[in-house]
Amino acid sequence: MDEIVTEHTGSILRIQFNRPTKRNAMTSAMYLALAGIFNEAANDENTRVVLWHGAGDSFCAGNDLEDFLKNPPGPGESPQASLMHAFVNFDKPVVVAVQGAAIGGGTTMLTHCDFIYAGESAKFQMPFINLAVVPEFGGGDEGRERGVQRASPLRRRKGSVFGFPGKAQARLHENRQISGNRMTMDRPMNVCVLVGSLRKASFNGMLANVLISLAPSSLKLDIVEVGQLPLYNEDLETAAPPASWTAFRQRVKAADAVLFVTPEYNRSVPAVLKNALDVGSRPYGASVWDHKPGAIVSSSPGAIGGFGANHHLRQSLVFLNVPIM
Ligand SMILES: Cc1cc2nc3c(=O)[nH]c(=O)nc-3n(C[C@H](O)[C@H](O)[C@H](O)COP(=O)(O)O)c2cc1C
Repeated sequence: MDEIVTEHTGSILRIQFNRPTKRNAMTSAMYLALAGIFNEAANDENTRVVLWHGAGDSFCAGNDLEDFLKNPPGPGESPQASLMHAFVNFDKPVVVAVQGAAIGGGTTMLTHCDFIYAGESAKFQMPFINLAVVPEFGGGDEGRERGVQRASPLRRRKGSVFGFPGKAQARLHENRQISGNRMTMDRPMNVCVLVGSLRKASFNGMLANVLISLAPSSLKLDIVEVGQLPLYNEDLETAAPPASWTAFRQRVKAADAVLFVTPEYNRSVPAVLKNALDVGSRPYGASVWDHKPGAIVSSSPGAIGGFGANHHLRQSLVFLNVPIM
């Protein structure tokens, strides 16, 4: 039985994962076969659109672990990377129907598609996220927008988002709403930018301003100041906390997403940014970070580009329920 079935109807190429007993888990051979199908379709004038789905009750359970152990990544391009390159080079619309599990790579692949229709049973999971590890191939886009209705098309932004190259960044669905604001294309996505340096000539401040100037019209980025926030002290958490805390909390709560742009101080997050995280996380049970999609840009004149701050920030953000790119 072919593990991937294709069929042409007019200008539509239908691709079906066909390993239902294994929840369509991907073997190396399947990655390569799928890459070949997309590469061929890219050059085929008769293919105008791809419709992709899985047989059985799941879309794709990710890597087939048995096969993965037998064929560990070796020298040269991996089968997974071949597929991702095929996606990146494929500029025709890809429409996907997802039912049941889309796990790990089963979700990552979707972030390179254009429209994803999620059935009621669809479950998207990125196991790496819980380990505070950025999923591969731009999969960290997970959860950036959860506010759309099930079975409505996921929306695509052209070009790259926050430096992740790729054909598209798909919007993934989830039962619960991720932030108070449902994102629609009627208005730009409202993104708070928090800068981890107070220095006038801060490189990170400059970087934040460049990102703001480069943002597409679908994103509205605004710097939200964190330097004026009094150091977090539970004694101040009364019925009348510092006004700047309240203003900051309201501002972040109203945002669709948050972008951190930060240097690292002593291999960690600058205190001013950590303070802002702490202020936003309280009072207990009313954290403004909960389910707020986030992204991190770190920079330093040092060779590792603020890795320590980036990493430590992720650790806090995972705890604070921020799905982070
Ligand atoms: C207290 C402190 C600690 C620092 N620790 C690090 C560090 O761990 N790694 C690093 O690459 N740079 C470190 N630096 C250098 C900063 O990356 C550098 O000053 C950078 O320009 C700060 O970012 P900014 O330009 O946005 O203010 C540190 C600087 C300060 C003031």
